[in-house]
Amino acid sequence: MTAQILDGKAISQELIAGVRARVDARVAAGKPAPQLAVILVGSDPASQVYVGNKKRQCENAGIRSLAFDLPAETSEQELLDLVAKLNADEDVDGILVQLPLPKHLDGDKIIELIDPNKDVDGFHPYNIGRLTLKMPLLRPCTPRGVMTLLEKTGIDLVGKDAVVIGASNIVGRPQALELLLARATVTVCHSKTKDLADKVRGADVVVAGVGIPNFVKGEWIKEGAVVIDVGINRLESGKLCGDVEFDTAKERASWITPVPGGVGLMTVATLMQNTIDACEKRRG
Ligand code: GUN
Repeated sequence: MTAQILDGKAISQELIAGVRARVDARVAAGKPAPQLAVILVGSDPASQVYVGNKKRQCENAGIRSLAFDLPAETSEQELLDLVAKLNADEDVDGILVQLPLPKHLDGDKIIELIDPNKDVDGFHPYNIGRLTLKMPLLRPCTPRGVMTLLEKTGIDLVGKDAVVIGASNIVGRPQALELLLARATVTVCHSKTKDLADKVRGADVVVAGVGIPNFVKGEWIKEGAVVIDVGINRLESGKLCGDVEFDTAKERASWITPVPGGVGLMTVATLMQNTIDACEKRRG
């Protein structure tokens, strides 16, 4: 079998057009456009690229972006004060703190201070708790974007065997919750998992988010499985590649996401969805 490509570029553009229509409707009704505050601390090159993409897609979606590019030496108190100020600002609908933060800053403490109603990354313990309890408010962007991609395949996830590789707070854990919510049978694999190849061989759906190039071998993929590659790894050649061996996996999968052009674009488009959702829920 040769896989169909799940085109993150086309699907993310559809999502952004949908957000734009909701923003335009607000503005036409005399309401303010949503506003997203994007905080970047330091100058990590990958983070600069991601934040640049987020600001650009805000423009396409009609969302106003407020950029806070702070020096790496920013103190924890300064960052906490900024978040508190944005929480109190009626005109701010979403607050995003780009991760990873410099080592002297406690990311968990900072995320916990964000108003859960403005937590468009969906990382706050309140939002993760709500997702766990099957009553989501704001859902982490990458896993929600992956669920949108899975919907586009038209495959019913109920009772399917899903394997999530990676157990990070940003991808693996909330991805497992999302798949469970869709009533798949979920196995979460991580660095201590035994016989990973066997787990993947049994999977109808594979979501890989480990950050290691070509970590998941194409020969492990079950014939007809759906393969979602969350990894964005830069090789020494400068080329981007995912966590899955694409060329061999695509000969076995029914659907597969490319890197680039897959999940990465969906994460940003989903952030736009979360921002308009947060705006509509808080302000009507
Ligand atoms: N770093 C890697 N992915 C993300 C994300 O989705 N949101 C934020 N804030 N930081 C990240």
